[in-house]
Amino acid sequence: MSHAPAPTHVPHHVAIIMDGNGRWAKSRGLPRIEGHRRGVETVRTTTFAARDLGVKVLTLYAFSVENWKRPQDEVGALMGLLEYYLKKELETFVRDRVRLRTIGRTDEMPASIQKLLRTTMEETKNFADYTLVLALNYGARTEAVDAARAYAAAVAAGKEKLNDSSWETFSRYLTTADLPDPDLVIRTSGETRISNFLLLQAAYAEFIFTPVLWPDFTKADLAAAIAEFNKRERRFGLTSEQLKPAAATK
Ligand code: IPE
Ligand code: IPE
Ligand code: MG
Repeated sequence: MSHAPAPTHVPHHVAIIMDGNGRWAKSRGLPRIEGHRRGVETVRTTTFAARDLGVKVLTLYAFSVENWKRPQDEVGALMGLLEYYLKKELETFVRDRVRLRTIGRTDEMPASIQKLLRTTMEETKNFADYTLVLALNYGARTEAVDAARAYAAAVAAGKEKLNDSSWETFSRYLTTADLPDPDLVIRTSGETRISNFLLLQAAYAEFIFTPVLWPDFTKADLAAAIAEFNKRERRFGLTSEQLKPAAATK
């Protein structure tokens, strides 16, 4: 028998902290918004690169609750780009069967964007094979507070029992309730922090930090991250031996 290479285990859910647009632009003497414009192109290519590589759910951190504190002209330009992106992509999502979802407090996004999101989500809701999740006005702490509030209300209404509280019952109140936890979290631009992204859901995710700036991120970079993910052993609190029962019984 031939020695076939071990099959690549593709992470079901990849989440990306898209960082480095500003530095990409600055290094070229361009305004920051130019970096964001290029970043949108990378969103587009990565959406399809991930699917080609076998990923089922791709979450992209597009705008954090903290990002509102950036200069007003940058925030305005980001909202404009998001609107342009959603308008342009609706057709592509429908044609290529991409289900769009969001996480975050989208009810605080501009009304025009909320409308586009609603339309796009409605038109793509039945595509079961591949999901693109945009984290918009997302912050893990805000999400935790919102979930705690909703959970408390459910307890008060008698829909949940405080004594039965568990991660399973509580996590149903997170905006990610119907999504699997991320297996792999990638952050571009060389920063090695989580910046309030999926703090609870990434409890057992593998993290990969790459120096590549988001506008330069390619399918090859994503494939390299998946290859690196394959070298990791996810132990979920167990010992390495427990994960390899055949070897352990020798
Ligand atoms: C990521 O790029 C995009 C958003 C956070 C919206 P940045 O704008 O943070 O780029 P840097 O970190 O300044 O290079
Ligand atoms: C995280 O990037 C948020 C997004 C990618 C949307 P930031 O650039 O805002 O994070 P910090 O400020 O460097 O931690
Ligand atoms: Mg940044």
